[in-house]
Amino acid sequence: MDIRFLGQACFELSEGDARVLVDPFLSPNNPISPVSADEVEPTHILLTHGHADHIADAVGLAKRTGAHCVAVVEIANWLGDQGIEAVSDPNLGGTVEFDWGWVKLVQAFHTNTIPGSAEAPFSAEAGVVIGMPAGLVINIGGTTVYHLGDTCLFGDMKLIAERTPVDVALIPIGGHYTMDRHDAAVAAGLIGAGTVIPMHYNTFPPIEADAGAFKSEVEANTDSQVVVLEPGGTHTV
Ligand code: NI
Ligand code: MN
Repeated sequence: MDIRFLGQACFELSEGDARVLVDPFLSPNNPISPVSADEVEPTHILLTHGHADHIADAVGLAKRTGAHCVAVVEIANWLGDQGIEAVSDPNLGGTVEFDWGWVKLVQAFHTNTIPGSAEAPFSAEAGVVIGMPAGLVINIGGTTVYHLGDTCLFGDMKLIAERTPVDVALIPIGGHYTMDRHDAAVAAGLIGAGTVIPMHYNTFPPIEADAGAFKSEVEANTDSQVVVLEPGGTHTV
C-alpha cells in the first residue's frame, strides 16, 4: 500500500484499484497541500469529523468523482443533505466493509462542528456543533492503519491497538487543537505500531511542531520507526 501525505490530516491510501482518501483538505484551502481537489481521484472518502481542516473538499470531491463516503452518522446525514448519494453512516464501534478491506470508527476526544455555509466554510459563527468525532482503524489488503483523527491523549489507544494490531499509526503532533508531540510520543508507545507517521502540524502557526524531535523521542523510547513525510511524500508498506 502507498500512503501519500497531503498535509494536515489528509492521506491517500492506495492499494490495487482502491484509492482511499482520508480527511480531504487540499489546495488552496490547505496552505501546505501540494495538490488541489481536481488532482485526486478517490474511490472512497473517509472522514474523522466535520471541522473544515478535515472536510473542506469532501463534498465537491464526492460529487465530481462519485467516491463512496464514510462518516459518523450525523456527518453522513449532512453529506446526504448536500446531495451525496453513496454514503455509509456508522457510529463509534461500527465497521463498514469494502472489497479492499474495512474501516472501523473508534473514539477520539475532540469537538465536532460542520461548516455552516459554503460561502464561509471556516466560519465558526456559521458552524453547527454536531455529534462526536472519530478515529479510524482502516484495513486495506491486510495492512492496518490507525488514523487517530484529532484527539488528545487517552489510555484506550492501547486497547484499540490490542483489538487490531496496528501496522501504521497516523498521529497528530501539532498541539493546541490536538495532543502535542510529547503526548503524541506517549501515544506511539501505547499503540506500538511498526511505523508512525506524524500529521496535523505546521499547517498554521498555532500547530507548529518539530517532527524530527518527535521522531527522536519515539525511536528512543519505543520499537516504532517514525517516517516524517513532507506534504506530497509517499511511504510504501
Ligand atoms: Ni478538528
Ligand atoms: Mn483538525
